[in-house]
Amino acid sequence: MNFPHQASRLSYETTYKLTLTILHIMSGILGTRASLSADLDLLLQLIVLVVLIVGVKFGKEKTERSLKTHGNVMIAAVVLNAIGVLLVMLPSFVTNLSAVLNETSTIGLPLTSIHMFIGILAEGLGVAFIFKKFGNVRMWMRLTAALWLISILLGISFYLRYYVV
Ligand code: HEM
Repeated sequence: MNFPHQASRLSYETTYKLTLTILHIMSGILGTRASLSADLDLLLQLIVLVVLIVGVKFGKEKTERSLKTHGNVMIAAVVLNAIGVLLVMLPSFVTNLSAVLNETSTIGLPLTSIHMFIGILAEGLGVAFIFKKFGNVRMWMRLTAALWLISILLGISFYLRYYVV
């Protein structure tokens, strides 16, 4: 027997999987070999980069008001980034895990693993900062921004390596 909450959970999961599959099989909008999901993710991460730069600018002003705006802008960056990770990057990683592990003689394996490792650190520090400030806040925030930048550069390299060159 199906209880009502089980039925709604099932349809939520089905909708989620169906959406991911459709986005993955549809061709992209940037004229490369990438799927629609990869193109949308690239565009989303570029928007996040702009949001991040705006957030850093507010952080540098150091008035009470600008620091509050800085906090809100950074929350937006973390949430937008998490959407890309949860809807595109994590599912792609899980689906392509065996293919990535077999790419021992190409740049694929180190590129994807370093990107993922640094990405997890950057997003993890971003989430941690939303809930609590710790240590030398300025130093940790600079480190987070630097890791984020490296991660996006590696993500763009991944895109160019697999969908453009
Ligand atoms: C600060 C955090 C991150 C940024 C800025 C970022 C950025 C990007 C960008 C711009 C791309 C190219 C677009 C695409 O192909 O989807 C990409 C691809 C990818 N990223 Fe990330 N990423 C981050 C975190 C992560 C994390 C935490 C994971 C681990 C699950 C991850 C795994 C991947 C994978 C597997 C791809 C290839 C997706 C595909 O096209 O099949 N990324 N990333």
